[in-house]
Amino acid sequence: MRVALLASSMAFCFGLSREESAIVRSAALLHDLGKIETPLTILEKPGPLQPAERVLMDRHAAAGERLLQDVPACERLALIVGQHHERFDGSGYPRGLAGAAIDPAARIVTVADAFVAMIEDRPYSQRRSRVDALAEVRRCSGTQFDAAAVAALFASEGYP
Ligand SMILES: [Fe+2]
Repeated sequence: MRVALLASSMAFCFGLSREESAIVRSAALLHDLGKIETPLTILEKPGPLQPAERVLMDRHAAAGERLLQDVPACERLALIVGQHHERFDGSGYPRGLAGAAIDPAARIVTVADAFVAMIEDRPYSQRRSRVDALAEVRRCSGTQFDAAAVAALFASEGYP
């Protein structure tokens, strides 16, 4: 929910239409749907994952895409969910897409997801301050993250 609220605010700042912003919000709500296929022992593991566990964890993006492809009228959501771990420089997964090959909506969800992950306690990491998290996102602007999506994060106000 937190990722969805932030992502829809960012979509507005990014200049997307009302309809596109609604798609961003829905995709952000569903982005980790594929984790229903990830073993709980991996999802809740404190600390870093072993390589074999990482492989299983990383399947969640493609799994979410596959699950949504089976739902009528959810093709676009499936595409965005499937791209939410792609990186702007092409170093992400599952397909290693880069730049304009990544849906703008997915680029927004990626930044919102990464930022929220940093400011919340997770099994594998302790929360960081908002200032630290913003600095980290800025550091990765133009490489891991689309610079326009990062600008939308900084322009967003009033998120939770
Ligand atoms: Fe994810």
